[in-house]
Amino acid sequence: MKGYIFTCTNKTEKECFERMIFGTNKLYGDNVLCLEKNDTLFLYNMDSDTLYGIFKAKGNGKKDIIPTAWKGAYPYQIEIERDGEIKAIKGIKKIFQKTGIDRKGLLNEYQIQILIDYLHDPDNFDFSRYKNKLVGMQITDEKPPIESTTLWDYPKQSYGKTPKGDNKYAGVTPAFIIYNMIKRYTEPGDLVVDPMAGSGTTIDVCKEENRRCIAYDIAPPRPDVIQNDARNIPLNDDSVDMIFIDSPYGDNIKYNDHPDNIGNISAEDERFYDELEKVMKECFRILKPGKVLGWLIGDQWVKKRFTPVGFKVYERLCKYFEPIDIICVARRNQTSNTGIWHNRAIRFNFYLRGFKYLLLMKKPQEKELKNLTRKTEWTQYRRRGKD
Ligand SMILES: C[S@@+](CC[C@H](N)C(=O)[O-])C[C@H]1O[C@@H](n2cnc3c(N)ncnc32)[C@H](O)[C@@H]1O
Repeated sequence: MKGYIFTCTNKTEKECFERMIFGTNKLYGDNVLCLEKNDTLFLYNMDSDTLYGIFKAKGNGKKDIIPTAWKGAYPYQIEIERDGEIKAIKGIKKIFQKTGIDRKGLLNEYQIQILIDYLHDPDNFDFSRYKNKLVGMQITDEKPPIESTTLWDYPKQSYGKTPKGDNKYAGVTPAFIIYNMIKRYTEPGDLVVDPMAGSGTTIDVCKEENRRCIAYDIAPPRPDVIQNDARNIPLNDDSVDMIFIDSPYGDNIKYNDHPDNIGNISAEDERFYDELEKVMKECFRILKPGKVLGWLIGDQWVKKRFTPVGFKVYERLCKYFEPIDIICVARRNQTSNTGIWHNRAIRFNFYLRGFKYLLLMKKPQEKELKNLTRKTEWTQYRRRGKD
């Protein structure tokens, strides 16, 4: 038995009850697709901090049951019916905090029971009755947070019960980056491509989130990564929903001895960017118009010389793509994160690399290509309480 708490606001609540349908956006779409007939549902109004329940799923969760509902903003939907008298209880946020119930994840039977008991008799609710039963009863695997700012910092390379990529692989990508990108920019079932996939972190993240994935590398370390040069990708034009690429940052890491490994060229050599530009061109060709490419890259400081690899790659990408944003990804586990290196950095007056750039780029739609010089209308932000 599982359950789910749908969220609404004062603006969207009425439509939920009029249509007897709950909905959410693609960030939480996978949860809705797991829901089945007779699962237990609640509705939480964020504005009024009110929980409504109990509801039962009338059928399975699907995409676009009523495509026009909430003007298409919440396409992952489920039809609902009442399960007894509907109660509305205010001040539920404190119960979520106290019980550790994650209102964005699926609920297990004890979490459902807590909410049902609280809805029925909030004045005599005794949390201690459930304390022991809650431990270890999360129904969903641990997932990283969906980031809301341009500073992304996650303490571990991977998350959840199964490994994502191989954390022993030199230059392995932190899995939460790919997780965040596919949650934001793809729908379940979409095709994601990683042209320089290394130990396959993108494959493992996509599999768990029900996205299709094709991964290539010049020297594949596992059988489901296809041997291929990223400068020539065997896929049709306009056929891919998202591309993630964590390219070499120069020749700082020895990935393999393959003669076509771009990671054997120094980032101080313009040839490095020329070769990466060939990869960018291919990515542009295979990506569907309007879809997103994420390119992870770091700068270089070697032998007293700084090379702004990130800026140089960004410049090349802008020849083809329209920038969406730049994310600063904190570096946590690099080999130089040791006392000796921190000491050296201070003594010899240089800085260790503390972050990488995640360059988020979009392949413009046809009409946007013609209209790339657009006028920005700045919004004036007023300070609260002033003017
Ligand atoms: C930073 S690693 C990728 C790490 C990967 N995302 C992971 O999580 O394990 C960069 C990869 O680019 C690959 N590479 C270098 N030159 C390439 C080329 N011409 N075509 C395809 N892959 C290439 C290297 O073999 C290396 O595995």
